Amino acid sequence: MIIALDHVAVAVDDLQAAIARFAEDFGLVLAGTEEVEAAKTSTAFFPLPGTRIELVHPLRGEGPIAAHLERRGPGLHHLCFRTDDIVADVERLKGKGYRFLSEAPSPGAHGSQVIFLHPKSTGGVLVELSQHGS
Ligand code: CO
Repeated sequence: MIIALDHVAVAVDDLQAAIARFAEDFGLVLAGTEEVEAAKTSTAFFPLPGTRIELVHPLRGEGPIAAHLERRGPGLHHLCFRTDDIVADVERLKGKGYRFLSEAPSPGAHGSQVIFLHPKSTGGVLVELSQHGS
C-alpha cells in the first residue's frame, strides 16, 4: 500500500551548485549525501515535513541520470511513493497494466528497495516506489 510521498527528485548537472541553492538560498537543511552504486547516482537529501527533496546527479558521468540530462537537461526527474509492501504493490499495479523499468525492485538509497514505473504508463510522470529497509 502506498503510504507517503517519500521524495521528489531533481536531476542536476552541477551537484555542488544545486546543494548551495537548496541549502543557502532556499534555506533547507542538507541531511546528507550518498552514492548509490546500483542506480549510478550521487544524491543529496533535504528533508521537509513528511517528505524530502532529493538531488540526483550522475555517478562518474554515466547511468540513467546522465542520459536524462543529455536528453532533457536538468529539472524535475521523478516522484517517489513510499510503500509498506513493494512486492504487493508491483503485483497489484502490473495487474492493472502498468509497466515497470525493471522486473524486480533493486537497492536504493538508505537501504531501501526501489522500482520505477514506466512514464508512458503513468501520464508522463516517472514514478518510483520505495520500501524502506528496517
Ligand atoms: Co528517488
